[in-house]
Amino acid sequence: MDQKIIMSGEAFEDDAEESIRPSHIDEYIGQTDAKENIRVFIEAAKKREEPLDHVLLYGPPGLGKTTLAYIIANELGSNIRTASGPSIEKPGDLAALLSTLEAGDVLFIDEIHRMPRYIEEILYPAMEDYTLDLMIGADGASKSIKINLPPFTLVGATTRIGDLSAPLRDRFGIVTKLQYYSVEELEQIIKRTSRVLDMPIEEEAALELASRSRGTPRIANRLFKRVRDFALVDDLDLIHKDVTKKALERLKIDEVGLDDIDHQFLLAIIKKFNGGPVGLDSLASAIGEEVTTIEDVIEPYLLQNGYLKRTSRGRVVTPKGYELLKIEYQNEWF
Ligand SMILES: Nc1ncnc2c1ncn2[C@@H]1O[C@H](COP(=O)(O)OP(=O)(O)OP(=O)(O)O)[C@@H](O)[C@H]1O
Ligand SMILES: [Mg+2]
Repeated sequence: MDQKIIMSGEAFEDDAEESIRPSHIDEYIGQTDAKENIRVFIEAAKKREEPLDHVLLYGPPGLGKTTLAYIIANELGSNIRTASGPSIEKPGDLAALLSTLEAGDVLFIDEIHRMPRYIEEILYPAMEDYTLDLMIGADGASKSIKINLPPFTLVGATTRIGDLSAPLRDRFGIVTKLQYYSVEELEQIIKRTSRVLDMPIEEEAALELASRSRGTPRIANRLFKRVRDFALVDDLDLIHKDVTKKALERLKIDEVGLDDIDHQFLLAIIKKFNGGPVGLDSLASAIGEEVTTIEDVIEPYLLQNGYLKRTSRGRVVTPKGYELLKIEYQNEWF
């Protein structure tokens, strides 16, 4: 079996990352609607002794898609095989992956929108009827053979649901959007991480970190680890508010959790394009970021929190965005 397929992505994450990743649904904080529904579907599938219907998880990076995929497998008591869209380059890669599945297995495909369309088509019969249609032999003499697969559950994750083809999207029985987390939920996640990593944190400090984590558990955990470094160097055995403030300042995280890249992005629109509207491509080249990074990573949080607006003519910084950067509002757009 092709190594790059089974070893993709998550397998390389460091041990600390693995230890703070919750593995049971009860430890998975927030996402209440999604979580409770999935809990029901898992229980029903177990009662019926059938595989869980295919699950598609989507939403911005770091909100817990991969974590939830592993939890689903764990709660089902199933083995999980993982791959990522870009690692599946040939039809044979996918066929190899599918043919090693055992009954009840979970197949997790991360970044599923990046799988080429002609390979995607192999998934349709696999998802629908648990069959694999293969073409064998050379051009003139090729024939198609059908191979039966054991019943399995495909869990797909993507940051870009819009890039998924409709036929693929429609074959998922459970489609779940992950939302940004509330400050209270992030606070719980930070406290949990503090317990797992055995570094106590004061209530006030946890709240401070939570409110500056951009609604994202991955950022909350990353900030926690950096603040822990500052505390360690200062010989503290508890993370308190002062060291937290100092660390956040040094990391250039502002009062609402936006970082340098967010600031540069908003500033570029204001300074170079008079606050917008500006098209994505011009903006990308102005700040030297990929269009996909802007769309997937930078923008969603700014849009959701009203610092930025998407119009038919491009991106516009809102008065709230100007206020954040302490620049007087001059645009006429609003
Ligand atoms: N609901 C949650 N409760 C507790 N911790 C969480 C939760 N969701 C995510 N985390 C933590 O945040 C980290 C990032 O989550 P994860 O890797 O699952 O995000 P993702 O959505 O797969 O991101 P990407 O789109 O970049 O792949 C995890 O390692 C985990 O520790
Ligand atoms: Mg992931």
